[in-house]
Amino acid sequence: MMKKTTWLLSSNPYEGSTESAAQGEAIYAARCASCHGATGFGDGAAGKAFETPPRDLRAYIADHTTAHFAAHVAYGKTGNPTMPGFLGVLTEDQVWHVTNYVYSLGAVVRQPAGEANATAGSKPGG
Ligand code: HEC
Repeated sequence: MMKKTTWLLSSNPYEGSTESAAQGEAIYAARCASCHGATGFGDGAAGKAFETPPRDLRAYIADHTTAHFAAHVAYGKTGNPTMPGFLGVLTEDQVWHVTNYVYSLGAVVRQPAGEANATAGSKPGG
């Protein structure tokens, strides 16, 4: 708990670093894409099996700090064992790298169904 608070308050040592983001790409592909999708929209094949779907990370990053994001990567999501904590599997540096990679993809907040910019992966009627 104390450790988690530390992470939430700590600042990203690689904030805005394209080099860090580049290192995170392979980590994302290996550890996250199966659930969160190849480009972070929460549409990975493995994730479809879960009752609570993996978060659309492209939307998530629009209103969360990189430190907040990294804390979830490090410790998982409280109350949801399908979002595991990765600290131990990944080093702290790797947690920041994968975080920076996702932010480098850019935030995309999709409009409600039917609006103009609901694009890839849109479901009929959904
Ligand atoms: C086994 C599937 C799975 C894998 C692998 C996985 N996640 Fe998740 N993740 C989830 C699910 C499911 C949620 C949604 C939890 C919820 O809403 O309760 C989630 C939520 C999140 C959240 C948002 C937490 C919140 O506050 O809702 C972040 C950030 C995240 N994942 C990042 C990652 C990153 C980065 C990786 C790779 C290092 C990763 N996840 C790997 C399933 C996964």
